[in-house]
Amino acid sequence: MNKKFYITTPIYYPSAEFHIGHCYTTIIADAIARYKRLDGYDVFFQTGTDEHGLKIENKAKEKGVTPKEYVDVIIENAKDLWKNLGISYDFFIRTTDDFHVKKVQEIFKKLYLQGDIYKSEYQGLYCVPCESFWTETQLVEGKCPDCGREVELVTEEAYFFKLSKYQKKLEELYETNPEFIQPVSRKNEMLNNFIKPGLEDLCVSRTSFKWGIPVSFDDKHVIYVWIDALTNYITSLGYPILTPEFEKYWPADLHLVGKEIVRFHTIIWPAILMALNLPLPKQVFGHGWLIIDGGKISKSKGNYKDPREYISAYGVDAVRYFSLREVPFGNDGNFSEEALITRTNADLCNILGNLVSRTIQMGIKYFEGKVFNKNIADDLDNDLIESTYKLKNQIDEKMNELKINEALEDIFDVLRKCNKYIDDTTPWVLAKDENARDRLETVIYNLLDSIRVCAILLQAYIPTTAAKIFDGLKITETSFAAINNKVETYELGLEKPANLFERIKED
Ligand code: MSP
Repeated sequence: MNKKFYITTPIYYPSAEFHIGHCYTTIIADAIARYKRLDGYDVFFQTGTDEHGLKIENKAKEKGVTPKEYVDVIIENAKDLWKNLGISYDFFIRTTDDFHVKKVQEIFKKLYLQGDIYKSEYQGLYCVPCESFWTETQLVEGKCPDCGREVELVTEEAYFFKLSKYQKKLEELYETNPEFIQPVSRKNEMLNNFIKPGLEDLCVSRTSFKWGIPVSFDDKHVIYVWIDALTNYITSLGYPILTPEFEKYWPADLHLVGKEIVRFHTIIWPAILMALNLPLPKQVFGHGWLIIDGGKISKSKGNYKDPREYISAYGVDAVRYFSLREVPFGNDGNFSEEALITRTNADLCNILGNLVSRTIQMGIKYFEGKVFNKNIADDLDNDLIESTYKLKNQIDEKMNELKINEALEDIFDVLRKCNKYIDDTTPWVLAKDENARDRLETVIYNLLDSIRVCAILLQAYIPTTAAKIFDGLKITETSFAAINNKVETYELGLEKPANLFERIKED
């Protein structure tokens, strides 16, 4: 039986159009999902939208439409964006999906009946845009620690989840399972800032707005955002029914989340799962933000651009490659169009694109497109061959640690090596010597073979470009398992291959 891998992105708020920051998480999840599939895993990759709450209710009101009408437009655009970016999700969940609504109600009721949810009164400091209650100590200079805006004092009847009951179990989880939160710095932050000071029970219903899932046995309450949102990861698999899909894919192997929602995924979510007596996700990875001009991306700051504009200007793989390569995964990083252009020109155009076109052109020019494996190699060749064939193991290690930028760096090191190999072997000089035909063929063969292996690996990250390379090399065996099946003869197309990447002009 195949090994399984269940990976998720957060479900995004469709309160406004998606920006490059949403693309960032989703591209990374996609690359990991593709990598695992190519590696023989049975992958379930889920993304979706988190559609309830006061913010969306208000936005819809401003526009004079229903909340559902409001989010439908944004979600259609989001799905089109994911299509443009080549996001290979297996399931897109919407928290307004009927099945989700029913299952959330069942989960809420189950927790209530078993005493993990109880009714009381809430008085708290509430940040409307973030839909978060905060304690006095969590505020930064009296304001919301996430967005820096004013909070308001709110009192209302509400249902509570007994988060405090899980304090000890969570401490144990952190202690016994160091892999659970990555990177480690985020784990320390959760322990020191939230768990150790003592967990308070959590307000899980609201009466002050209507746009939410009603509590089935008390419908003046709607279920407040986190129980509705977090459970998306299991309702999609059928829970509370223990379907074959649920048995197969749960627990999730990896929840990818931005750093601002690590708290919800590593404290509230495991506590809910503990209450439901379900296994916990194997890992929550809290990554950094893409930042523009030192700040978060937002429409109100005027630094928002529809990511589809970048895709049509520079190509889908330029956007994907930049997101995966530029920033060490976990850290914050700067996004700018200049940086995107520089990165595309330097790596995709100069290192990869030129290498592929040059090599295919030489294969066509010197050998009419038919290049045999002569199986004769000198030290220079062996060095390249060795670096090429140890790549897969190297990348496996990096991917397991989610060092995605380093995985790409390693692939590009080999591509760079190929370019150097051309400089060192000077095929154009060999081509002038009738007695050097075998040597020349060996050189071209080795280049083609390294390009083949790199393209197979690159498929996970920049699939459109990899597919073009496969066309150019005329190869069809492109799974990871095919890496070690040496091609005996490359039969290249006879027309001149187009450059994979045009150099982008920097103005
Ligand atoms: N709906 C909640 C998540 C619920 S998950 C059960 C939410 N939604 S959100 O629309 O605000 O999206 C948050 C996620 O989008 C972040 O966690 C992050 O993964 C991604 N990003 C949004 N802006 C981002 C950047 N500027 N940079 C990187 N990622 C960003 O929170």
